[in-house]
Amino acid sequence: MILSQDTIAQIQNRVEIEEVVADFVTLKRKGQNLWACCPFHNEKSPSFSVSPSKGIYKCFGCGKAGDAIQFIIDLEGLSYVEAMGYLAKKYGIEIKEEEQTDEALQQQHAKDSLIIALNYAKDYYKKILWEHEEGQAIGLSYFKERGFTDEVIQEFDLGYSLDIWDGFTSAALQAGYSEEILIKAGLTIAKADQAGDITGKYDRFRGRVIFPIHNITGKAIAFGARILKADKKQPKYVNSPETEVYHKSNVLYGIFQGRTAIRQTDNCFLVEGYTDVISMHLAGVANVVSSSGTSLTEEQIRIIGRYTKNITVLFDGDAAGLKASLRGIDMILEGGLNVLAVVFPEGEDPDSYARKLGNSGFQTFLKNNTQDFITFKTNLFAKESALSPAKKAESIREIILSISKIPDAIKRTFYVKQTSEELDIDQQLILSEINRILLERSRGQSRSGVVDEDKLLQDAIKESKSAERTSTDSIISIHEKECIRLLLQYGSVTNEEGVHFYESILAELGDIALITPVYAEVLAMFHQKLAEGVILDDDYLLRNGKDYIKKEVIDMISRYSLSLKWEEKYKIYVPKEAENIQEAIVKNMLHLKYYKVSKMLEDNSAELRKCEDIDDQIALLKMHLELEKSKREFGNQLGIVVNRKAAG
Ligand code: UTP
Ligand code: MN
Repeated sequence: MILSQDTIAQIQNRVEIEEVVADFVTLKRKGQNLWACCPFHNEKSPSFSVSPSKGIYKCFGCGKAGDAIQFIIDLEGLSYVEAMGYLAKKYGIEIKEEEQTDEALQQQHAKDSLIIALNYAKDYYKKILWEHEEGQAIGLSYFKERGFTDEVIQEFDLGYSLDIWDGFTSAALQAGYSEEILIKAGLTIAKADQAGDITGKYDRFRGRVIFPIHNITGKAIAFGARILKADKKQPKYVNSPETEVYHKSNVLYGIFQGRTAIRQTDNCFLVEGYTDVISMHLAGVANVVSSSGTSLTEEQIRIIGRYTKNITVLFDGDAAGLKASLRGIDMILEGGLNVLAVVFPEGEDPDSYARKLGNSGFQTFLKNNTQDFITFKTNLFAKESALSPAKKAESIREIILSISKIPDAIKRTFYVKQTSEELDIDQQLILSEINRILLERSRGQSRSGVVDEDKLLQDAIKESKSAERTSTDSIISIHEKECIRLLLQYGSVTNEEGVHFYESILAELGDIALITPVYAEVLAMFHQKLAEGVILDDDYLLRNGKDYIKKEVIDMISRYSLSLKWEEKYKIYVPKEAENIQEAIVKNMLHLKYYKVSKMLEDNSAELRKCEDIDDQIALLKMHLELEKSKREFGNQLGIVVNRKAAG
């Protein structure tokens, strides 16, 4: 398709970058720009910025940048024309095509023509299902038997392929599609003789019901075709091969139909197959995808991660399958997402169970049976654990391994606490085991030059508390130190709009008081100097500070190689952290607030234990609930799931 110049101009005039981006990530305003966690790489705090006035986006973490059209091209892996089509649809702009010459037809982008052929096929199979005698008698009645409604059959573009050799191929050739395209699209299979010459061709899908696989814009890019009769000699499903537009490992079945619900519910259910996805929709649960036959890939996890950080994996109730899927859980954790699990009773899958329980029963079942991965793994190994202490140790090791996969240190700490409580094991034991695993792993793959804040934090926690339990105070102190470090090292640096980063730090800090005396003192000095019109920095303190402050500053900045700072100053090389100042600030503040509130909760609980007066108790309890709420909010922003299980 060649878009007319008029259509292109209309789209370009109408598009607002922030509206386009907001369909994929949650944007928060800070200053003139909007910020979000970058949809192109994994991160826990926002370094992805959108400038509405300039109409562009830029990620300070991974460097991706461009305008609204580029955003759709990059994010969805679409061609230019497809991306324009997406935007036209979003804004209700009618697409006018340029008069197509033979030459232009030939120049069509290869991907576009495959997609056009695939969507012709989709429409063809639909037409057969609804209008052809065989389609109605065999395909449609099969779907009806399974309880599929007309509505859902339409929503998923289900179809039927006739039980003959070349029903589709001859129709497509007649409609003007070239043999080459049909073969490339995986729709038609060529027979070749020994010399390699094509001697004939036939349809890939024959006598089967058709499940189109859609890309994010709702275009068919592949098909799964299910057999109807029981035939041991034929596979149950025939699927499209990999093509230029279909790479199994980065496609999720149901993402087009489910993405709005996934964003709204902030959760994505993960099931095994086509029919499970559809059954869930029928049961009123639309936030669901399936990895279509393959085991879950990193790429698929990243795609889900654009819409939500929470994945709930649904497991059929057989133990063998469960253990085989543990790798998937660890991969989700490694991807920085939260994972929850629901296990179905023996012999049931989402499809069968939804039909058995009915919609509200099924939804209640999901709600009441959602477990976090620790509980899930504990239960999985419970039977064996009861049999022998060695088995119990193995199950604990399994859980610890999973926790060690989580990239965020704070989140890890949270799960360590939970494991310690649930399995009644000393927290310190778990922590030191995790540290040991992390250490081994980092020895194996030392990534030089890259500042790994989580690892530093972990080390710092380890240092600060030799044998004792890690206290909240010491964690707060570490984050206060980081806050002061950012203030001193980057306070005088300005962002794109010429605003100093110290403004952002002080604004975030608000009236939070620092509890570590030396950091409180430096902060007070900073304010005092600011009143005199000077931005206090590390260089100044290294020259003029009191001895103990100097020592503190040296310790602070030596953790991050001094040379990085100089390189930044002289613009020789822009280091990773300097590109991410805003991200570092936001992340640091969230951590600080999270632990400040945790500390207040601890203090409040201590008060409550001592308190005898009933009115005072009620006041303290109210306070407790308030604090819990803010802790949850900060936790959420950090991507920590707080007490999900209790809420269920
Ligand atoms: P299932 O056998 O559970 O299929 O395989 P299903 O889709 O739930 O179908 P019903 O309920 O029996 O009608 C789960 C998924 O594994 C892939 C498909 O993606 C399927 O949806 N699969 C299965 C294949 O690709 N090929 C096969 O031969 C079987
Ligand atoms: Mn099934």
